[in-house]
Amino acid sequence: MAMDLSQYPLSKLADQIGTPFYLYDGGILRDNFKRLGALTEGPNLQARYAMKANSSRKVLEMAREAGSWIDAVSGNEVLRAGRAGFAFGDQPPVIMFTADVFRDNALTTVLEHQVLPNVGSPGMIRDLRDAGYRGPIAVRLNPGFGHGHTQSCDTGGPSSKHGIWHEDSDQLRALAKQAGLPIVSLHCHVGTGPELREFDTNMRKLVDFFVDVLPAFPDATSVNLGGGLPHPYRPGKPAYDLAWYRPVLLDAVERLGRIKGRPIRVEIEPGRYAVAGMAALVCRVHDIKTTRDNAKGRGNSFIMVDAGFNDLIRPAMYGSYHHISILGAGAGRPPEPLVVAGPLCESGDVFTRDDHELLDPRPLPRPDVGDLLVLHDAGAYGAAMSSNYVSMGRVPQVFWENGTATLIARRETLDDIVRAECDEPLT
Ligand code: LLP
Repeated sequence: MAMDLSQYPLSKLADQIGTPFYLYDGGILRDNFKRLGALTEGPNLQARYAMKANSSRKVLEMAREAGSWIDAVSGNEVLRAGRAGFAFGDQPPVIMFTADVFRDNALTTVLEHQVLPNVGSPGMIRDLRDAGYRGPIAVRLNPGFGHGHTQSCDTGGPSSKHGIWHEDSDQLRALAKQAGLPIVSLHCHVGTGPELREFDTNMRKLVDFFVDVLPAFPDATSVNLGGGLPHPYRPGKPAYDLAWYRPVLLDAVERLGRIKGRPIRVEIEPGRYAVAGMAALVCRVHDIKTTRDNAKGRGNSFIMVDAGFNDLIRPAMYGSYHHISILGAGAGRPPEPLVVAGPLCESGDVFTRDDHELLDPRPLPRPDVGDLLVLHDAGAYGAAMSSNYVSMGRVPQVFWENGTATLIARRETLDDIVRAECDEPLT
């Protein structure tokens, strides 16, 4: 289900809390988690929400209420999951910590809360051993294949820094054995946001891969197929139908259980699927200006808005498409090619781009100054990847449910931004 903008009092909210802001639709979020719950219904199936996609407390609470577990990728993500009510400990491993490097408080958090570490680099086994960890581990393998929506979101194959190369699993087992750490889970995540049937093909290949490698891991009780379920960002693109995935998961439970002679839990780890479509970034049109054709290139018309890549970095970083709506006097005008650009002093601060060209003018109605402009499908890797570049505060998040709006994160202030600054002599 996509957001229907006519349902929300956007203009009133914009007047009340200012622009830009994120709007989250709790009904859509709840439905998405419910669908993931149904996908993993039954014995030996478990969904983990990859909280990196959106770690807002409200989102985590809904994931928990729907029965999802958590994939966390930093010490603080583990602690945020704990604050949202997810259980620590590895019996069962409700929170898993996945990484290729321990930094900050990650190692101490794993030790303190007995959270299952999912090791993506052999050196992490040494780090765990040296820190005195004596519990179970999961290992992330790179099975040699995969694909994502861009090269930088492809996490399987020789170009990927993630996981431990599948042909090195003998050394990996020896290292874990030496360290006294039983490998209880095998994990692969091979890419985020591929095409629909490509996703199914890769998941089936992954199940075959696990069927091949699992016998060599005597202590394994689960496998994890990672996330990567596609989201339809472009209008007219079909949504991913989970009915394609369910048989793959049931087949995995059956085959893996059979080769081990005991139940093997099959986990999935979606992030984007749960949250992408439940949010919009709402900003205001401040100006419209044009450049003209000359020897260097074609002229463009720019809609200047108050949101920038500090708020939503996906277009600038990957050339990602986010659908755009205009609300206000301009909304009904015939479309013309327009570029939507933000306030940052960077020419790449443009929301209408593709991954080859800097600008990709979009057919849009010409708005009036003061109209609202909405960037759709911004719930995954939106607020989560926002920053306070140029000391602009991160924007508020509004949660909409049952006709009521709740502010769940306020706009960051100057004091928030400079809070960590200090002047401490180091000896
Ligand atoms: N599990 C692991 C270990 C991951 O690294 C990721 C995403 C996921 C699960 C969830 O993948 P999803 O279901 O959301 O596709 N910033 C990029 C996406 C980076 C994804 C990184 N890892 C974007 O905005 O498209």
